[in-house]
Amino acid sequence: MSDGSGKTALVTGASSGIGAASVRSLSAAGFEVVAAARRVERCEELAREVGGRALALDVADPDSVAALADELPELAVVVHSAGGALGFDEVAAARDSDWVTMYETNVLGVMRVTRALLPALERGGNGFIVIVGSVAGVEVYPGGGGYTAAKHAVHAVARTLRLELLGKPIRISEIAPGLVDTEFAEVRFRGDREQAAKVYEGMTPLTAEDVADTIAYVVTRPPHVDIDYVAMKPTAQAGPRDVHRA
Ligand SMILES: NC(=O)c1ccc[n+]([C@@H]2O[C@H](COP(=O)([O-])OP(=O)(O)OC[C@H]3O[C@@H](n4cnc5c(N)ncnc54)[C@H](OP(=O)(O)O)[C@@H]3O)[C@@H](O)[C@H]2O)c1
Repeated sequence: MSDGSGKTALVTGASSGIGAASVRSLSAAGFEVVAAARRVERCEELAREVGGRALALDVADPDSVAALADELPELAVVVHSAGGALGFDEVAAARDSDWVTMYETNVLGVMRVTRALLPALERGGNGFIVIVGSVAGVEVYPGGGGYTAAKHAVHAVARTLRLELLGKPIRISEIAPGLVDTEFAEVRFRGDREQAAKVYEGMTPLTAEDVADTIAYVVTRPPHVDIDYVAMKPTAQAGPRDVHRA
């Protein structure tokens, strides 16, 4: 095991859910953590709690990503947690703006932030990229076309990076969770809390902390160990549609 003493970790999507929990787990592992998201006031509160830093970041805005990179000349870990789903429409009724947003955040966001920070990760000596993918990156379900297409795309980006970074001191890991109780469903259903609550009805989902624990585990392995891909689901979930509800 190697801890994070003296090393900096950036978490995107740190204002909520898996990102916020990862700020805490990485901080507990000894990293100096930079929490970044659009709702920077939430990141500032979290940074105060863990003794880290907060930065405003919109991964869909190239200028915002460039400004982030200027602040981080050397980096040990990037956790890409910014992302999510928007809508639950079948392809026949797909809304262009939903798909564009999902691609911008889940796919282009990961590409832009990675591209901007690769030099800083290489400078750090033992860089680590964690991509929060999803079970939706390898499976599909009706109504999930836009989200599953985006998460399949980011799965491909992760596999591509693994090949492109071979021989460099940068590891990469994709963490692919099933149902996690965060603001994810509320965002997907455009603020409809009743509909969002149904996603987790009658079953025990993963918590953001469960996923963040795994992220901290993965990045604290010795430098010769790269845990490429982790699929994790609640015990009551076998696939996107196969959920046992009491
Ligand atoms: N919850 C699940 O069931 C589940 C399962 C599998 C995978 N995932 C994935 O896990 C990741 C984290 O989601 P979550 O479950 O923690 O949901 P969440 O609580 O809704 O958090 C999503 C985070 O993404 C950030 N974000 C969204 N758009 C952004 C943008 N343009 N620029 C910067 N940050 C942005 C949000 O911050 P701001 O709005 O403040 O910018 C927020 O911090 C996502 O990639 C999601 O697809 C979730």
